[in-house]
Amino acid sequence: MPTNREQIDRLLALREQARLGGGAARIEQQHAKGKLTARERLDLLLDPGSFVELDAFVTHRATDFGLDRQRILGDGVVTGHGSIDGRLVFVFSQDFTVFGGSLSEAHAEKICKVMDLAMRVGAPVIGLNDSGGARIQEGVVSLGGYADIFLRNTLASGVIPQISLIMGPCAGGAVYSPAITDVTIMVEGTSYMFVTGPDVVRAVTHEDVDREQLGGASIHTQVSGVAHLAAPDEASALATARRILAHLPQNNLSEPPRVAGRDPADRRDPELDTLIPDEPNKPYDMHDVIRRIVDDGDFLELQPAWAANIIIGFARLDGRSVGVVAQQPSVLAGALDIDASDKAARFVRMCDSFNVPLLTIEDVPGFLPGVAQEHGGIIRHGAKLLYAYCEATVPKVTVITRKAYGGAYDVMSSKHVRGDINLAWPTARIAVMGVEGAVNIIFRDQLEKAEDRAAELARLTADYESTFANPYVAAGRGYVDDVIVPSETRPRIIAAFAMLEGKRDRNPARKHGNIPL
Ligand code: HXC
Repeated sequence: MPTNREQIDRLLALREQARLGGGAARIEQQHAKGKLTARERLDLLLDPGSFVELDAFVTHRATDFGLDRQRILGDGVVTGHGSIDGRLVFVFSQDFTVFGGSLSEAHAEKICKVMDLAMRVGAPVIGLNDSGGARIQEGVVSLGGYADIFLRNTLASGVIPQISLIMGPCAGGAVYSPAITDVTIMVEGTSYMFVTGPDVVRAVTHEDVDREQLGGASIHTQVSGVAHLAAPDEASALATARRILAHLPQNNLSEPPRVAGRDPADRRDPELDTLIPDEPNKPYDMHDVIRRIVDDGDFLELQPAWAANIIIGFARLDGRSVGVVAQQPSVLAGALDIDASDKAARFVRMCDSFNVPLLTIEDVPGFLPGVAQEHGGIIRHGAKLLYAYCEATVPKVTVITRKAYGGAYDVMSSKHVRGDINLAWPTARIAVMGVEGAVNIIFRDQLEKAEDRAAELARLTADYESTFANPYVAAGRGYVDDVIVPSETRPRIIAAFAMLEGKRDRNPARKHGNIPL
């Protein structure tokens, strides 16, 4: 019979074995690739000393292909819970040193267990992905394990925040777990995501492409829009996940954490009064507007390099978390196109799911015209953003800085789609379309018959401008609640969100809507 001491020593030895995963040599290889280990990553992600591990003794059950002789404690994934800024989170961190982090039946069960616990107690899940995909030796059992995770990702969507970090390979069907989660963060140079890798692409389409060009961080943050952010290294990717979580509640039944605001709520910014150029078609950088309005100028932008004609991200107003959606007049004049609609629609829905109020800052000349846009389905994609704003029941405050033209006026959280407080700057121009287009359509005959066409055009343009290129027609109908001096924007929207804090609104009971996808 072993003594108590011997049994404790055995446990400590097993724990040490589990801690080492695939062993010292493989840990060295991982470091040599510029990557941290699964446990080192958790140390950086979580509050110091808060990690509680589960299932460290789990091993795979496979026996084929010599696997019966290679059982490694933990089976390639470290799971458990800990805290971030004192708030409970569940985590899984794939260990590339064990079978390349590949997903076996047991590995999948460990991930499912923390996801189930997270749903039971209502806490976020953060997944650190670094895996060769399905454990090839386990076959369909491994595919089933992925499906078990996808189902949980889907059922947890809109219930608890889910954040994915891609810290290495994420290939094949494995990509669909991050794709369902709320935010995906990649690491530049060491992470990649693709459904089929370079070899398959070469064989099928004869395209010659490497991993980085096919699915590296820059591709997914600039071209495909699959990932929300790219970080220069693992430590900053993990720090970014912490920052994002600070804006989200624990679950859909709770509120995002409010912090003590240091930036005075009544701060006025005189620079805003001169920020909009006098010429209506001259661009300006909407980031300047956002930073001058929000607490401490601190704006956590998501997807900054993809569909840059629309800006999305988190900020605080008097310590309250808000989701900001704003046009960027310096890219495509801020027009709504397919990608911008998709980007903003998903963000609006994330904010609405998690009780994050929405601040919309609008300067939109309309939907982007063109054959490519029409044939690409701008009708279907633009409808997503319209649908998202229509169904959102969180407090919605809108500020029109300049253009609010056409259907885009309706879409961008207008009063008609349950915008709660809609404000306009005196520079706002709210109309069915821009002046040039409008005058040429409605006064075509008059212009054709005019003796001095240029003089007539100037007169009609001035007429149209004085009638529609201002916010007062909309304000006269109550579609705009007030026209404000730009420098007053911060205090006015803080007052609006404070007034809306107790907002109760709900949509009709139904299984779910049928958002145009
Ligand atoms: C079992 C795997 C594995 C896998 C890697 N390994 N992937 N073992 N199943 N899927 C093992 C390797 O055999 C090796 O073991 C160790 O992990 C490290 O792998 P290396 O190849 O040496 O590392 P590296 O050169 O960095 O290359 C990493 C890699 C490559 C690009 C991920 O390993 C690779 O291409 N793996 C296969 C990827 C893949 O096709 N997966 C299936 C995708 S389909 P040893 O003992 O030699 O060190 C899929 C379906 C999901 O996932 C379905 C969901 C619906």
